[in-house]
Amino acid sequence: MIVLSLVLLAFATFCRGGHDSHGKRSNIVFILSDDQDLQVDFLNYMPLLSKHIIQKETFYGRHYCTTALCYPARASILTGKKAHNHNVTDTSKPYGGYPKVVSEGINDNYLPLWLQDAGYNTYYTGKLWNAHNLDNYDSPFARGFNGSEFLLDPKTYEFYSPTFTRNGGKPVNFNGAYSTDMIRDIALGFLDDAAKADNPFFLGVAPVAPNSDIYFTGEDDANGIPEVVTNPPFPAKRHKDLFNDVIVPRTPHFNPERPSGVHWVAKLPLLNATHIEFNDCYYRQRLRSLQAVDELVEALVDKLDRLGMLDNTYIVYTTDNGFHVGQHRLQPGKYCPFEEDVHIPLAVRGPRIPENKKTEIATTHTDLAPTFFSMIGADMRDDFGGAAIPITECGLEEVVHDRFEHVQVEYWGFYLSESKYRYEGRRIPNNTYKALRVISKDYNFYYAVWCTNEHELYDMKSDPYQLHNLYSGDSLANPSRRSAFSVSLSKVVARLDSLTMVLKTCKAEGCVKPWKQLHPKENVNSLKAALNPKYDHFYEVEQPRAKYDHCAEAYLLELEQPTFENMGKQFIPG
Ligand SMILES: *[C@@H]1O[C@H](CO)[C@@H](O)[C@H](O)[C@H]1NC(C)=O
Ligand SMILES: *[C@@H]1O[C@H](CO)[C@@H](O)[C@H](O)[C@H]1NC(C)=O
Ligand SMILES: *[C@@H]1O[C@H](CO)[C@@H](O)[C@H](O)[C@H]1NC(C)=O
Ligand SMILES: *[C@@H]1O[C@H](CO)[C@@H](O)[C@H](O)[C@H]1NC(C)=O
Repeated sequence: MIVLSLVLLAFATFCRGGHDSHGKRSNIVFILSDDQDLQVDFLNYMPLLSKHIIQKETFYGRHYCTTALCYPARASILTGKKAHNHNVTDTSKPYGGYPKVVSEGINDNYLPLWLQDAGYNTYYTGKLWNAHNLDNYDSPFARGFNGSEFLLDPKTYEFYSPTFTRNGGKPVNFNGAYSTDMIRDIALGFLDDAAKADNPFFLGVAPVAPNSDIYFTGEDDANGIPEVVTNPPFPAKRHKDLFNDVIVPRTPHFNPERPSGVHWVAKLPLLNATHIEFNDCYYRQRLRSLQAVDELVEALVDKLDRLGMLDNTYIVYTTDNGFHVGQHRLQPGKYCPFEEDVHIPLAVRGPRIPENKKTEIATTHTDLAPTFFSMIGADMRDDFGGAAIPITECGLEEVVHDRFEHVQVEYWGFYLSESKYRYEGRRIPNNTYKALRVISKDYNFYYAVWCTNEHELYDMKSDPYQLHNLYSGDSLANPSRRSAFSVSLSKVVARLDSLTMVLKTCKAEGCVKPWKQLHPKENVNSLKAALNPKYDHFYEVEQPRAKYDHCAEAYLLELEQPTFENMGKQFIPG
């Protein structure tokens, strides 16, 4: 028995990775781009990323952020928690921004500090947080890094004149320097430092491309929030003439004839010819701005190779959230639960990672901190709301049958247009929602409840572009209609709504195994299992429904009653 356990333990450890054959712990290089979606073809325009990372590693084809906005997404990456648990829900005050990270205690309890506790040297360059600026960067300084050079507002998004603070020093503006190239060179310098030390290291590299170029006017709006002007991102001069003929792919959901979505999205007018030209230009500028990121990837790989560290270093490439350009009639921007905004790249290269493999298991940003822990062999924290992403061949095989299949996306607050063509105003209020994806071989559903209590249901096996909302008004358009999975949609919705109820206030392990909350005494861990007719009454009649009292700009629990904790039922057989 003991021998068997030891064998199993060894196997499990092997399946997780952690150190090389000499027992030296692996390093991690984490590259985080800004607002890079997966839907509209970006990776095809990054040949070096493809050569050095994607063909050398595993590409996770179903990776999602859990909030479609930089700041909450970054807070989830660096804490391993959903936004409803860290409550950093916006990019600026009062519900987000660097001061909120400090007041929520994140600066004293997050990934870099945990990595240092595990004996790692930690380095970071680029954008760490939003609203991290000249006034607040040293009150207090971002903790947890042995070496750091952070971009600071108001110049974080000005591609040609960034301001950095190095190791807490006085901020320096580099007028005329190209931000991504500077970040590349700073990162290469940190690799030299890391190579001299005995400890293993973690290096975070966070360029702002392909985020919009954002210029702070210096004025505040009526809400006391800094006014900004947004432009398409600026590429490095050497890339400015690339892709002159490229346009946004004209997929069925690009500026669709019939409006899609609900709430304010459903009211959007068609884009006119001027808008479309502008969207195409935006798209090209995004592709061009990514070229310097692509080169940065190659420079880091070459340097690791020259320093003899490539074989024992994990390289993780992702972005904070996605971005849409013209889909669903939306002008360039993010903040929505549509695929463009939440479905993003994740690629991992490193020791024992199978080459050129693509997996379709569902993974999210809250899984990244647990994944880093697994890579370095650290004990998982109890408060992680995600689970380590398997990275080895056997790890990937192990989870095919029992890894969770859900992705929960949540948002509170306004929608901000990043186009010069605005809707009624720059901000559209009440863009508050909870959306759910359930993805398996057999089905692929999207379900959302908005703060207006409108619902969306897309059967994405038959409707991958999210154009046909099967919910109309406040009921299913045709409750007896069957999904591609040949189950009545009203039965599917009853389950998805209960799953939403559990996930909207889930904590820790409860976010990873939500079906367990509903079926504590049974082995139900998928939508398919929950669709057993013996649970029909339980789901269709006994459970409370997810709803909002009214729309708000912040996560206010009193407006989101009932919760699973106070009204939800558990199925107890017998
Ligand atoms: C989240 O933070 C806001 C203030 O930023 C606060 O008003 C709200 O109550 C918090 N939500 C929860 C559920 O703690
Ligand atoms: C990195 O910082 C940690 C925490 O302050 C410290 O224990 C460690 O010695 C530092 N590493 C180096 C190489 O200075
Ligand atoms: C499209 O609408 C914008 C306003 O959003 C307007 O400035 C422009 O002239 C319009 N273009 C055409 C071709 O109608
Ligand atoms: C936003 O929601 C609030 C509360 O539900 C409502 O009073 C307000 O009219 C809404 N604003 C818009 C522009 O829909």
